[in-house]
Amino acid sequence: MKEANLILDVNEKPPVLKWIILALQHVFAMFGATILVPILVNSAAGQTVLTIPVALVTSGIGTLIYILCTKGKSPVYLGSSFAFITPLALGAIKAGVGGAMVGTMLVGIIYVIVAIIISFFGKDWIKKLLPPIVIGPMIMIIGLSLASNAVSEIGISSDITAIDYKGVIVALFTFLVTAVVMLKGKGFFRIIPFLIGITSGYILAVILGIVDFTPVLEATFFSLPNFVLPFISYTPTLAAALTVAPIALVTMAEHIGDHTALSTIIGKDLLKEPGLNRTLLGDGVATFIAGILGGPANTTYGENTSVVGMTKIASVWVIGLAAIFAIMLGFLGKFTAIVSTIPNAVLGGVSLLLYGFIAVNGLKVLIENKVDFTKSRNVIIASSMLVLGLGGAVINVSTVAVSGMSLAAIIGILLNLFLPNEKDNDNIVENTEEKEEENKNTEKTDNLVVLNHPLVEHKLSILRDKKTGTKEFRELVGEIGMFLCYEAMSDAKLEDVKIETPIKKIDAKRLDEDKYAFLPILRAGTGMLDGLIKVIPNAKIGHIGMYRNEETLEPVRYFFKVPSDIKEREVLVLDPMLATGGSGCDAIAQLKSEGVKNIKFLCLIAAPEGVERMQKEHPDVKIYTAALDEKLNENGYIVPGLGDAGDRIFGTK
Ligand code: PRP
Ligand code: URA
Repeated sequence: MKEANLILDVNEKPPVLKWIILALQHVFAMFGATILVPILVNSAAGQTVLTIPVALVTSGIGTLIYILCTKGKSPVYLGSSFAFITPLALGAIKAGVGGAMVGTMLVGIIYVIVAIIISFFGKDWIKKLLPPIVIGPMIMIIGLSLASNAVSEIGISSDITAIDYKGVIVALFTFLVTAVVMLKGKGFFRIIPFLIGITSGYILAVILGIVDFTPVLEATFFSLPNFVLPFISYTPTLAAALTVAPIALVTMAEHIGDHTALSTIIGKDLLKEPGLNRTLLGDGVATFIAGILGGPANTTYGENTSVVGMTKIASVWVIGLAAIFAIMLGFLGKFTAIVSTIPNAVLGGVSLLLYGFIAVNGLKVLIENKVDFTKSRNVIIASSMLVLGLGGAVINVSTVAVSGMSLAAIIGILLNLFLPNEKDNDNIVENTEEKEEENKNTEKTDNLVVLNHPLVEHKLSILRDKKTGTKEFRELVGEIGMFLCYEAMSDAKLEDVKIETPIKKIDAKRLDEDKYAFLPILRAGTGMLDGLIKVIPNAKIGHIGMYRNEETLEPVRYFFKVPSDIKEREVLVLDPMLATGGSGCDAIAQLKSEGVKNIKFLCLIAAPEGVERMQKEHPDVKIYTAALDEKLNENGYIVPGLGDAGDRIFGTK
């Protein structure tokens, strides 16, 4: 991967004053999420499980540990994922603070064990164990299981005569400010909606006189955080182990997603270097230490990854200094006392959004990965998980309680592993006459479409022939490109128009050609362009310049120019050959980092290796190919293929 467009690269150290300012900005960005977790856990558990000073100190220490474990190569601040709110609260209800903390340590241990397994056996097994159909419902459960808490914090779960209207006004105001910032916030503000919401709600609460400042008056300027230590503050017990620890499965999937996104942001593949084993190790050790000190689990999560993407500051020096500042903040007694006076109504206002926001993220996982709910298998997995997770199921095994959430995760994983695949048992639906007709001309799996048409086969056979000259080759690449475009547009949405034929007025349908962009990968992709612009002449065109390094076969970027409104467009990426998949995947990663969501990949010939890589790295991108060949040879050429597409189109060899 090439360096991304960063203001400060991973190992760049800014001058002192700039360094301090940037680190403070980073603290500001991570602050909202870091203080929300302890506050919301305590509120949901009805007791003090976590304290803000310890959460700040452990997030700082955790971040420094993570930087060490990842050899200073992965720039992200660690904090507690919102996913831990419910398990920690339930863990404390079951077995007190000690139970929740032992659970947190176990989460750390699970991360470390998985890191070790990955060092020996690679990472592919994780995706098999935790596919989107298991992760999506799990995240929904995490969010929805706290919904009733948000409602009681707002104060609208009682009789109308008992409603505290000041509280409700503050909650609604907090909610509205947070929502507006999420919706309209620009630049840096967009990544701190919860912090802005809480601050605004707090100011209104002060004005309405519902903030009790006693803790602030009583607090000293400096104070030692209230660390909760095993054997000193509590006797460790495993009673809540199965309530808290299984959540590690979900946050580990989140971890992989975040590091994939971060790799794109910084232009370096973190899953390779320092490697997923090291990033997981960093999270694991940080979480274990947090558990020992009485803090919440410490993991990488979406909000802190976005900070890097939004600010373009990827320097580990800045993040390291932010970690030191967070540790120092934890010792400022007056400051943390002010934070502890945030009234319930303000929390209710943010929770109204936050818990739903978590649940919607689960839905997003399902939608982005195109989980097909016409398949009974998926319906069974999601339904059973949701009911177990939200229905309050608890199984007590001796002194250990397995919560509904853990049960849901375990059942989801098992069902996914053992339920037969749809192909085995859903022929009734698949084999309608209509489907058979459709399949005559295309061969489809979830996100791979292979054109299967006599005319395409005929053209391909001329194209592959080494005797075919440049002129004919070029024409054929364009023509097959057009057929691919025809298939790729089969799900296009049309607009209603009224037209008048020479005979009568009718309602007709038209394509909004302005919605599309074609992005050929240079050089060979431009050969296909000809055919596509014949049928959609108004599509915008961008170019992605990239060639394969002949030795490593890795793509080397050299040009990137796309339409300025690319984010809004449906994009067809064009490249005649999908060989190792390196070029196609990297081009798509660049587009995603520009915010493009709707991408299809069109190629003339694909190798199974390239298809597999694309499906792994970009499962949301549908591949359209005229042929799926046998394999790659030792030089990375497709067998039987057609040779070097670029050279044959441009006659350069
Ligand atoms: C070819 C082809 C693809 C790439 C596919 O480009 O046009 O872009 O190789 O290989 P991959 O899937 O293993 O990445 P090449 O590097 O030859 O550049 P060119 O188009 O400029 O000839
Ligand atoms: N690039 C090509 O042009 N041909 C192949 O077979 C593989 C990559």
